[in-house]
Amino acid sequence: METYQPIEWTGGRLRLLDQRRLPGEVAYVTYADYREVASAIRSMVVRGAPAIGITAAYGMALAARQSSAESASGLYADLAEAADFLNQARPTAVNLSWALKRILRRVAEADLEDASRLRDAVLREAHAIFGLERRSNYQIGVHALPLVPQGAKIIHHCNTGPLATGAYGTALRVIVAAHEAGKAVHAYVDETRPRLQGARLTTWELQQLGVPHTLLVDGAAAHLMRSTGIDLCVVGCDRVAANGDTANKIGTYHLALAAKAHGVPFYVAGPSSSIDMEMASGAGVDIEERPADEVTHVLSCCITPEGTTVANPAFDITPAAYITAIITERGIVRPPFEENLASLLVERSK
Ligand code: MRU
Repeated sequence: METYQPIEWTGGRLRLLDQRRLPGEVAYVTYADYREVASAIRSMVVRGAPAIGITAAYGMALAARQSSAESASGLYADLAEAADFLNQARPTAVNLSWALKRILRRVAEADLEDASRLRDAVLREAHAIFGLERRSNYQIGVHALPLVPQGAKIIHHCNTGPLATGAYGTALRVIVAAHEAGKAVHAYVDETRPRLQGARLTTWELQQLGVPHTLLVDGAAAHLMRSTGIDLCVVGCDRVAANGDTANKIGTYHLALAAKAHGVPFYVAGPSSSIDMEMASGAGVDIEERPADEVTHVLSCCITPEGTTVANPAFDITPAAYITAIITERGIVRPPFEENLASLLVERSK
């Protein structure tokens, strides 16, 4: 099996696997400028909520190195400016602002007077965020194991594997952990129009991990639930609101509706860095609108008449009522989500 590192801090720089070129080519891009890191997030060189957060954290480490400030207060001001800039790269995944706020808070708490020690502290915190997400990914797989029956047929949407998190993955980790435990699972992979994260990335990862899988067009999921029999759906999340409403890749809501209609359990998997308790419900989530050519073009080939009007929301909101449970690194959260997510996060801070 080929090994690859989606996100790596190496030689004082950030190296990202260019996910736009997969599966055809395994190519890396190295960054020394935090502004270019923001544009890598925007153009989806790197994508997936936890991966975006980790990348932004390393973007802050680059910003600390780029700053010529000699005093800690001057450096802190430059870091705050860099955080604002990075935060604008993509709006929906809360992991981005979560990581940036965490870095700023930790370096402020450290109360360092020496700029070079402050620079080191930023990098240490970026590594800590990466380590935290790695452990969370693994624990999600552990907690999810009892939810996956022997021989389960599982629908998965988008890409939530190592590429999306830099480590084991979240929703995809649920499937891989069950496979590793000998549960003979079969993954049904939504292609995930328009960026095709399922067709290009999830199949690529499952192939390398040796997990049996079948690719389907997004519109086939409901039919498969009725004809083939699906045991569960598992998806990732970009932002879980305090009431359990979940923002995730466009098409997730559709899948949840179909699952409800067919009595198929619908699970959301994600680290607690994806839970936003300041967001009361999904109604307040900023849904990213992406360029029209993602829809009008397939592999650079235009498939629509010129002048076609396009709606291209990159995410949707699945209401909490359609979610069976949320799988986190702290355990499984079931309805009522408002209450149970709050106690999960209180537990976490103890
Ligand atoms: O636009 P993308 O590819 O960044 O969207 C990714 C998703 O929606 C994932 O499901 C989510 O970020 C969770 S990744 C572990």
